[in-house]
Amino acid sequence: MQLTDMESDLRPTLFDFHGVSMTKYFTENWENVQNFQARPDDILIATYPKAGTTWISYILDLLYFEQKSERETIVPIYERVPFLEITQIFSSETTNLADKLTTSPRLIKTHFPVQFVPKSFWEQKSRMICVMRNAKDLAVSYFHFNRMNHVQPEAGDWMVFGSWYDHVNGWWEKKSTYSNLLVLFYEDLVEDPGRELDKLCHFLGLSPSSEKKERILSSAHFDNMKQNKMANYSTLPVMDQKVSPFMRKGKVGDWKNHFTVAQSEVFDEDYERKMKNSSVKFRDEI
Ligand code: A3P
Repeated sequence: MQLTDMESDLRPTLFDFHGVSMTKYFTENWENVQNFQARPDDILIATYPKAGTTWISYILDLLYFEQKSERETIVPIYERVPFLEITQIFSSETTNLADKLTTSPRLIKTHFPVQFVPKSFWEQKSRMICVMRNAKDLAVSYFHFNRMNHVQPEAGDWMVFGSWYDHVNGWWEKKSTYSNLLVLFYEDLVEDPGRELDKLCHFLGLSPSSEKKERILSSAHFDNMKQNKMANYSTLPVMDQKVSPFMRKGKVGDWKNHFTVAQSEVFDEDYERKMKNSSVKFRDEI
């Protein structure tokens, strides 16, 4: 099927799902997802969309499976680290997540707000890594993503996976009661990827050689991921990279090229109100 034929068929509408704006692609498999049997060594990447999911997925995949060269050449990142919640978009895909997960440890990603995560992950004390990104850059990135991805709703007022505020605050609060959760910030990863990689390794109990860390940092550099067909989503036909590339800019502060001063002020006012009781701290200087 050509992309043009797909567009009208695939663009979903948003609806309220247990208080969160969602689309059919992420809810149709709800029962199965809730019954998913996590394992203690599973690693769950938990992000709001556009916060750096692919970047951290790729780093984790290299940390564990760098030696599997066939993985690096023929398995795209979205198959190496599959979605917890997605159902099939093409009928040939399997809907059974456990069948897709053939490695040990299993790397799984989710955009779910914390309250949607299946209970087995908490019971098994699986490790979870959450990446957070400042709201303005994230909104810009999400806007362009909705334009190019034909299984996303049209870019508009509401976003799939609900409020960014609820998402970051929900996950952040979980840190106080669940010790197997690491929170990283996109801005820190951009500033000093080596330092953040060390943080990640410490959390995972890994001590890769400095050569291996160098290789990972080089492969996971924006310019290299952008060129890499296994990392840049160019193999996924529902994304029209001519509209906007998946690896778009990879920068902190791009919102300044999109927001007017007035829009930024309105945003800041709303942000202050919604985040006034929050202990998540994003950098002031962005
Ligand atoms: P931009 O649209 O601002 O460029 P996700 O994987 O959660 O969908 O996030 C995608 C965003 O992360 C995009 O942001 C993308 O460019 C950025 N990104 C992906 N890999 C990156 C990397 N290696 N370095 C910096 N940013 C990266």
